[in-house]
Amino acid sequence: MWPRAGTADTRESGGYSSSRVGFSRSIRGLGRPVISQYVDQWALVTGASAGIGAEFARQLAARGMHLVLVARRTELLESLAADLKAKHACRCEVIAADLSQPDAPRQVLAEVERRGVTIELLVNNAAFGIVGEVDDTVPERVQELIRLNIAALADLTHRVLPGMLARGHGSIINVSSLSGFQPVAYMAAYAASKAFVLHFSEALAIEVRPRGVTILAVCPGVTQTAFFDIAGAPGWLQKHSSHSPERVVQAALKALERRKLVIVIGWRNYLLTLAVRMVPRWRVVKESMRFFRPRRKK
Ligand SMILES: NC(=O)c1ccc[n+]([C@@H]2O[C@H](COP(=O)([O-])OP(=O)(O)OC[C@H]3O[C@@H](n4cnc5c(N)ncnc54)[C@H](OP(=O)(O)O)[C@@H]3O)[C@@H](O)[C@H]2O)c1
Repeated sequence: MWPRAGTADTRESGGYSSSRVGFSRSIRGLGRPVISQYVDQWALVTGASAGIGAEFARQLAARGMHLVLVARRTELLESLAADLKAKHACRCEVIAADLSQPDAPRQVLAEVERRGVTIELLVNNAAFGIVGEVDDTVPERVQELIRLNIAALADLTHRVLPGMLARGHGSIINVSSLSGFQPVAYMAAYAASKAFVLHFSEALAIEVRPRGVTILAVCPGVTQTAFFDIAGAPGWLQKHSSHSPERVVQAALKALERRKLVIVIGWRNYLLTLAVRMVPRWRVVKESMRFFRPRRKK
């Protein structure tokens, strides 16, 4: 039986648990809570200038962490850093970087080291989507998406992991998506990039867990950010039910504390991830057409 949604308690059954804030997959009996050990430790958040990334920064600072904020829009990062320092008396470092550039992850981490910072929690959040028909898709933009959503995330992960493994502690949160569970028409490259993030994170999580390192894949559904405007579907967000970034991050941090492998935000979204496993793949992908089918040009 699935637990009722909206209950305050968390019940576990066969490796799945539900709570007020999200649904997740875990392995019981391994590890211990992590966040409480993070006071005065450093988190690096990519895509921290807006949306879910900025919210990660706020909630981590509120838990006592110091932050390295990474994105392209320096003014937004500086303003967030000033705000967090004033509210939480934390330390904040701003690093402006375009992570879609092939060498950017290496350069960012070299700068982190130069500033004498050791990363205890990496939040790979920066990403963008592309919505539209294949005829209108700009090939260079798809390459940029692959470099940011996949290559930069994998590169940062592989570059911070050795230090965490050597120390025997550390965590990585990789932001995937509900669309990581299935192919999505008119959003093919984005959904495929999030499937990579999900599978990559789950496999690594199992591998590194016995060595004290936690990796969590976060799978939000529609969330109230500028994501769809930037993806080329302005106004789409307003027509669909959505979660706030606050709720997404709250659920993610709760799942991290419990050393979950995957958290799907919201029980309806969680049921969707189960449904797509039971329905033939062709039907799942055909159904996806109705979500992002662009209006016919006159
Ligand atoms: N919103 C949703 O409905 C939704 C649903 C599922 C999953 N997600 C995932 O949630 C994560 C955050 O998205 P969001 O909704 O918060 O979108 P958002 O508001 O558009 O934020 C995206 C962040 O990524 C940064 N970014 C974009 N391109 C970058 C680049 N080349 N180099 C460095 N940083 C870059 C942006 O900063 P700059 O522009 O300043 O560089 C911004 O801080 C993404 O991984 C997204 O796939 C979102």
